[in-house]
Amino acid sequence: AMIHILNGPNLNLLGQRQPEIYGHETLDDVARACAQLGQELGLQTECLQTNHEGALVEMIQQARHAAQGIIINPAAYTHTSVAILDALSAFEGPVIEVHISNIHKRESFRHHSYVSARADAVIAGCGTQGYLLALRHIAHVLG
Ligand code: DQA
Repeated sequence: AMIHILNGPNLNLLGQRQPEIYGHETLDDVARACAQLGQELGLQTECLQTNHEGALVEMIQQARHAAQGIIINPAAYTHTSVAILDALSAFEGPVIEVHISNIHKRESFRHHSYVSARADAVIAGCGTQGYLLALRHIAHVLG
């Protein structure tokens, strides 16, 4: 099965951006680790990133035809985007929401997620390891 790993705004700066919050690993490191774990689990992975809300909506729509599961870190759009929630609601497979930081431990504007209304599972505060945990969970669910 193919799993799309979708990343929202500023995650292209992962590793350089507020490393005290998001760590030193880059998104390329995450993509490589996911590909490697995916191979062990019998899953193919594609890791994509965009800084644009509409582009993220289109990536989610494309996943309807190309992927059996979605792992998504919508970044700041988590807290603002009904459009991303609606796009995910049109996807039929498992959706796992990942946040590198624990959004509940941070500013109150990060406590609410529009995406959680659709996500089958939410992982927050595990660092970039959260993506790997999400992949293991999808493997278990698609089993
Ligand atoms: C984030 C948390 C969001 O609040 C923030 O806007 C991000 C990253 C995380 O992975 O911890 O950009 O989704």
